[in-house]
Amino acid sequence: MTETSTFFVGILVGVVLGVISILGFTRYFALNESDKEHKRSPMEFKPAKKLNSMTKAESVVTKEAEFPPDWFSSTDNYNLETRAIFSKCWILLTHTSLFSKPGDYHTFTICGYSIFLILGKDFKIRAFHNVCRHRAYTVTRKESGSSTVLGCKYHGWSYDVMGRLVKAPMFDGVPGFRKDDNGLLEVPLRVSEESGTVWVNLDAARVNDGDIGGDKKEKEAVDLFLGLGGNKCRWVDGRTVEGGFNWKSAIVDSNTFNIGIPQRPRPSLLPSWLGKNHSHTSALHLFPCSTVYRIPNTNLWYSIILTPSSSTKTQIRWDLISSSTKSTIEAEKAIASQIEGMVSSQAKALEQSLQLVDDKNKDIQSAILVQLKSHLRVERALGKEVTPAMNKAKTSEKFLQAESLCKELDCLSGKTTRTNAQRHDILAW
Ligand code: FES
Repeated sequence: MTETSTFFVGILVGVVLGVISILGFTRYFALNESDKEHKRSPMEFKPAKKLNSMTKAESVVTKEAEFPPDWFSSTDNYNLETRAIFSKCWILLTHTSLFSKPGDYHTFTICGYSIFLILGKDFKIRAFHNVCRHRAYTVTRKESGSSTVLGCKYHGWSYDVMGRLVKAPMFDGVPGFRKDDNGLLEVPLRVSEESGTVWVNLDAARVNDGDIGGDKKEKEAVDLFLGLGGNKCRWVDGRTVEGGFNWKSAIVDSNTFNIGIPQRPRPSLLPSWLGKNHSHTSALHLFPCSTVYRIPNTNLWYSIILTPSSSTKTQIRWDLISSSTKSTIEAEKAIASQIEGMVSSQAKALEQSLQLVDDKNKDIQSAILVQLKSHLRVERALGKEVTPAMNKAKTSEKFLQAESLCKELDCLSGKTTRTNAQRHDILAW
């Protein structure tokens, strides 16, 4: 090789090495920026750690003095949570992709309130209390189904997808009876156009409230987090399972239901130590009981909604959703089965775990406590329990007469209920 060609080969090698270094550093800084972003978001969490795989030191918990000792077990606490939180907060409950044709409905139970969501002929989802207006039996017969007319099986009252009473055998022609006054009671519902998430609020006063109110920020956070930009989504799989634990203990650790799939390193010519990316399935928790998870390297995301049915029982609803219309059946099946297995094992672990506030992660518990205390203050000031989810009692003269007769009969039979003052003594915190 001549001196000139050696010189040119040297220059060529130098240029190639220079380009690799520049690319390498660009990639390195880009990754660090992404990591910083990850840390900046207070709502994104690290991957799940199975409770039963925690070390002894990690499982040590401290009981904060500000939390009542029966925080995870008291029925009175649960009743207060029903009134103070689940009866009046907007709850991310489901996704539009679960509803495809008019009449599709899904039933949910939140703190003993059975509600169902149904797709109308106008392709709008509406929510109703699952309570027949005749004698209060449930209207839907299955957890999920499809029908444009829902008939109560007891005496045949039937309702359409708008909740209107369309048939009331034996009542036609009864003086003063109007079908229009006996439609199903509507539950306030909002849909995010951006992400397709469906939110409900059991507070009856919010039906005509045009906006999602103070929880708008949470809705926007979900839109941003999922970044679907109004893309049509496809429901992949999901179901509800019951766990024998207090719902609050499942959100002590925000990663309890995170399947923690690590992000695959993207193909790169760069040395492996530059190409490392530690991002995992990331989570966004939404007060009070919903969390959404993005699964890296896929178009998939899933939600976990925890709704209590008593102080010791919680319904866990999971749904896996794809933001792509193309189905990758095998991959989707594998992830659905992973979520199903994780939910079941975490539910078992929660049933056996210590239910105390974790000192490292008490922010969510504190948010709950603040909400309870503030509601209790209002109740004490009014001298009565405030249950926003209760629909106003009928106040016709006949109804009031019947009510007063029932109360008299209760007193005579000694079936008096606990007074508000007695209840407040129990919740003396
Ligand atoms: S309770 Fe539904 S028709 Fe009677």
